[in-house]
Order: sequence, then C-alpha cells, then structure tokens
Amino acid sequence: MKLKKTISLLSAAVALCCGPALAASDSKPWMNSKLGAAERADLVIREMTLDEKLKLVFGYFGMDNEGKKYKRPQESYNQSAGFVYGVPRLGIPNLWQTDAGVGVASQGGPQVRTATALPSGLNTAATWDPQTAFAGGAMIGAEARGYGFNVLLAGGVNLMRDPRNGRNFEYGGEDPLLAGRMVGAQIKGIQSSRVVSTLKHYALNDQETGRTTLNVKIDDQSARMSDLLALQIAKEEGNPGSVMCSYNRVNGVYACESSYLLNEVLKKDWGFKGWVMSDWGATHSTIPAANAGLDQQSGMPFDLADYFGAPLKEAVLNGWVPQSRLDDMARRVLHAMFEHGVVDHPVASEPGKIDFKANGAVSLKDAQEGMVLLKNQAGLLPLAKSLRRIAVIGGHADKGVLAGGGSSLVYPAGGNAVPGLEPKTWPGPIMYYPSSPLKAIQQRVPAAQVSFNDGSDKAAAAKLAQESDVVLVFATQWTGEAFDMPSLSLPGAQDELIAAVSTANPKTVVVLETGGPVSMPWLAKVPAVLEAWYPGTSGGEAIASVLFGEVNPSGHLPATFPASEAQLPRPVLDGYPEVADKRFDVEYREGAAVGYKWFDLKGLKPLFPFGHGLSYSEFGFSGLSASVKNGALQATFTVKNTGKVAGKEVAQVYVAPLNAKWEAPKRLAGFQKLALQPGAEGKATVTVDPRLLAMYDSASKTWNIAKGDYQVTLAADAAGGKAVSTVVHLEAASYDVNGKPLRR
Ligand code: NOJ
Repeated sequence: MKLKKTISLLSAAVALCCGPALAASDSKPWMNSKLGAAERADLVIREMTLDEKLKLVFGYFGMDNEGKKYKRPQESYNQSAGFVYGVPRLGIPNLWQTDAGVGVASQGGPQVRTATALPSGLNTAATWDPQTAFAGGAMIGAEARGYGFNVLLAGGVNLMRDPRNGRNFEYGGEDPLLAGRMVGAQIKGIQSSRVVSTLKHYALNDQETGRTTLNVKIDDQSARMSDLLALQIAKEEGNPGSVMCSYNRVNGVYACESSYLLNEVLKKDWGFKGWVMSDWGATHSTIPAANAGLDQQSGMPFDLADYFGAPLKEAVLNGWVPQSRLDDMARRVLHAMFEHGVVDHPVASEPGKIDFKANGAVSLKDAQEGMVLLKNQAGLLPLAKSLRRIAVIGGHADKGVLAGGGSSLVYPAGGNAVPGLEPKTWPGPIMYYPSSPLKAIQQRVPAAQVSFNDGSDKAAAAKLAQESDVVLVFATQWTGEAFDMPSLSLPGAQDELIAAVSTANPKTVVVLETGGPVSMPWLAKVPAVLEAWYPGTSGGEAIASVLFGEVNPSGHLPATFPASEAQLPRPVLDGYPEVADKRFDVEYREGAAVGYKWFDLKGLKPLFPFGHGLSYSEFGFSGLSASVKNGALQATFTVKNTGKVAGKEVAQVYVAPLNAKWEAPKRLAGFQKLALQPGAEGKATVTVDPRLLAMYDSASKTWNIAKGDYQVTLAADAAGGKAVSTVVHLEAASYDVNGKPLRR
C-alpha cells in the first residue's frame, strides 16, 4: 500500500516535472522532442490507421454555411478560416487555422476576434528591414497562439505584376529579392511563436479578376526568374511548414494539381519537406490532385466535393493513389507539426490575454518604418509645432485609418471606426481602424486650431484650406480580395478634391492610404506626398509622428508607381470586368521583366521609381567597391548622413551586365538599411545571391553566370538616384537549381 502510494506520487512528480512529451516517451517514442522531425513523423505514421491518416489531409471551414447546408466541426473556432482533425490518441493535436496576412483575422459575423493589425504587407516590404518584418511576424504569431490557433495562413508573396491587383496590399511588391526576403522574415517571425505559417499563393496568381478561371501562360525560365524566385527565396528565408497552392491554372493545369509546380519545382527541386494545402475552393479532383502533390484539401465546403474525404479513401484502397503517397501526405503534415513545435507546445483551448499596448507598439514601428515620403518640396514637411491653423481634409481622418478587405481582415479592439460603408459584406466590410490621424495631430499641437472637413463638398474644403496655414488631405483607396481596381485612379472625386484644395492653398500635403500604386494627376501642384499604405491599428499615431518629424521617414517603394496604365505590360487588365465562370488566358508577355525591369526594358519613365523614398535628412554614397570573395560577388560601400537630423537610408545595389543579355537591363542584387546620426558614416557589405547574376536554364536546371563585365550600381532607387557605379569582371559559373555552386 505504502509502495503503491510512493509510485503514484512519483509518477505524478514525473508528469509535473517533465510534461506530457517525456512522460509519454516509452509508448509514444515520437513524443521525444530530442528526435528530428523526420524521424518523429516516421515513428508516428507507423501507428496510424488509414482513417487517421485521411483525417490529417482533409480540412474544414470554420464557419457554418446555411446555403451549402454545412456545419463547422464543433472543435473548430467560429468564424475562423479552417480546421483539421489531429489524432489525439497519438498525441497529435488538431490544426486550428486562421488567416493572418496582417494579424489574426476573422471571417465576418457576430463573433469576430479582436486583434492587432500590422500595416499592409506592402508597407512592411517598404521598410526594407527584415528585422521589422520578423518582429511583426512574431507578434501576430503570438496573438494567434493566444487565440488557440496553430496554423497561420500568412506569407503572401505573389509578385506585383499588376498594380491594380486588389490583393497587392497583402504581398511584398514587385521584386523577387525584396519580396522574398521580407516575406520570408515575417514567416520566420510567425513560426518563432511555435506555430506553422504558410507561404502563399503558389503560384503565379497575380490578379484577382477571374482568379479561379484564368490560365497563366509563362515559360519555365521566366517563371523561375520571377514569381517562383520570390517564393523560392521566401521559402529559404522563412522555412514555412506549409505552402498554399493557388486558384488559377498555369499553362493549362490547376496550380493545386500541377505536378510540375508541386512535385517537381517545390518538392523535388526546392526540397520542401512540409505540406501543400489548397486554397479554399482550389481543389478540383482526387486522384490527379493527390498524385500531383497536393497534400491536404482545405476549407470544405468551398470545393465542389470532398475530394480528399471518402473518394480519397476509395482511391487509396483501389490503388489509384498509392498507399505510399497517402503516407507521404500525412507525413508531411506531421513533419511540419513536429518541426515547428505544434506538437510539443500545444495551444491552449482558452484564449490568453493579449497585450494590445505592447503589440500596438510593434505595429506602430512597422508603419513608421514603411511609410514612404514620395515628395517634399521647400521643406513643407516636417510640420512645425508652431503652426496655428491646420486643415485636415477627407479620408475619414477624424475617425481612423483604412484597412484592406477580404479574408485577411483583422477586427480591431474598439470596432470599426466608420461602420456602414458599402460593401458591408464580403469582401467587406470596409474597415477603418479606430486610430484617428486627426486626434494624433491635435495632441501634438494643443494650441493650434485643427479643423476637419470630410471632403464631400469640394468648395467647402477649399474654403477651409484657404483659411489655414497648412492643409493635410487624406486620400484613400479601398482594395481587397476577389476584385481588382479598374484603373490606377483614386476612387470617387478625390483627385478633383486634391486639385481644388491645393489650388486654394499651395501648402498642401497629401497623405495616401492606398492598397498600392495610384496615379496623381495633381502631383505638380502638391508640394508634399506621404504614402502611408494601410497603416494598421496604430496608423493614425504613425502618420502624425512622421508628419511632425518625430520619426524620420525611411520607407522606400517596393513597387514602381506608373505614370499611367498605358505603361503596363497589360494596359487593360485581362478578363476585366469579370464574367462569372469565363475561362481566359493571361499571357505573361513581360516574362521575368516585372515592375522596374519592364520600365527599364521599354525605356518608360514612371511617376515614382521602385526603391524611391525621401527622408528629412540627406545621404551620400561613396567608396563603392565590388569584388568576388569566396566565389560570391560582394559590394562594399559607405553611406553618410549629410543632413541635420538622424535618419535611415536604404542603400540599393543594382547589377547590370555589360555583355550578357538578361530579361531586362538591371536587377536589384542586394540592399541594406542603415541608421545614421547626422554627420555619421556607415560602412556596409552586401553579398549577392548568384541567382541574381545568372540566367536560369530550364533544360539543365542550372543558374549560369556568363563571363564578362558587370556594372554594379549603388543607388537610392531604380532610376539611379544618387548613383555611384563600378565595374566588376565575373568568370563563367554554374549553380544548381537552388543557387548552390556546382563543381566544375
Ligand atoms: C482564400 C484566400 O485566397 C486565402 O489567402 C485565404 O487564406 C483563404 N481564402 C482562407 O480564408
């Protein structure tokens, strides 16, 4: 009796001291966290029944749908993106999925979760600072974990081939290196909270119009050097546990059943070990999809059928989908769960407490770091605190800041600051975060008269402008999932409003809250323009801090601002306006010459070039040298703050071949953001990824650098702002599909 008691006390102590992982290690050896993810996945899969494996590869939507007579699984979280059953008997938890482009999102409805929203992905890309991206990722990962989610549908890195794409705000811009690095850093940050992040949307899903019916036509070489390169770099940087395949078809085949994209490029060439989940409604078959490399069907009932439910079981039993393939599908899910801590650190079932203050500060920093000062003549900005009469006009700036629409929408603490705008339902509601720029401005100049006019009456706004010392016009462009912009113009009568106001008072600053690039017919008349993107739940504060110079702007454009639609590879968006179920091709004529590369190739002058961004300080570049060290091209240089205030400069290294032919005259090959006190100098070295000096050869799956001279340019934008150049000679060299040197 005494002995029995001692044993039970001991086992209680073991359970307490070592947690479930070690206590279970005899009967469940895969729970031993000292083993590698692959070994653990192998061990547990041996114990699983056919039905248990099938559970892991089938996902549900987290919300009832009356029309489809669908009831979400009880264990799912209401109004969440998705849910997948785990195998509790073996210690494998369920997967709770949330959308997460900029934070913990909710599907619209009565039970939204409140969360902190980062600024848009484009804003984060505009920081050119991977650490900021990482910090934002870590913050949203922690909030998601706090809400009981262990899979974040984040990591959007669709390349900006068209500035009218309604989802550009979720992504990382037009350059594969910048987008790949920034989104990769955010994924890494998310997963540091021991949850899985996706990388999406794989692949070549660059417009929303007809996204489920369009077919992208592109050759392998161009794809590998553009959209796929951005995804490849983000995968390398971020090591996502999952990849979400996209809605569209590529060269005639659905992305979610393309053996070329899934089996060959992603899994074989890039060595991806995690699982491929379909976008919601992007699975179209059982046998072709499973055999082509899709590992998990998502979001039942979005697809026409439960392809990876009973039909997959039947296909496995009759051998059309080999048992080994089902094992591989389940193993991939398990591998990611073990690798990223989802099994060892189960999420709590009760929501934790969110520190909105601390998380708001992370969002604030991201917004401040990514806002781009596009124009600033005659030192109109920063605003002096001695100003007496300030007019704030338009953009609901009295209430809050705009957010992008669709599945990534985060519902803020405090609710929608401007409720009731149309559309109120998907892809709406149009959401303004309750962080009022007007209030943040008033707080900074308590003695001044700060007047607001909503901008609906041009004449009244112009009158207020005339009576003011300075005018701040807020212009907004709501973009979102499932639709594109008809043009680059600001919607409504905002262009006319800005023109009228700036005529009435030339001291006009335009603050833009847009999903991406817009045209600016009034630009010549307006001395200062600040691109504030969608600045997140601390946006009003961030805008005011930059306007008043408490924060020196340091964002640089992650995408070209075209002068007009006529400059784009597709002046008229293919398939626009959308006709339901109409299938059509989108020919990527520009190949890999995306964004500034297209503008260079065609000799076009944009409104603002890629990489552009002003500061309240001045910076100079010097001492550029380029040489090959340990087989890699390195550029070393000095940046000096020649102005009067502390600030940050983004040094951009572009490379152009003098003899070889590329898809476009030059490419961004590296970048570094430096923080410098006035008068201070900073030295930096960037090492160039060989893929950015090479052409991809599809037949041999190699990247090849041609022997010859290359111009290395250090500049503040793609148009050569402040440029200094040097020439370096490179020998011919070949690299494998992942840019690793090949022995010769
Ligand atoms: C569709 C979107 O394309 C995708 O990004 C999102 O994660 C899923 N819906 C789930 O909401």
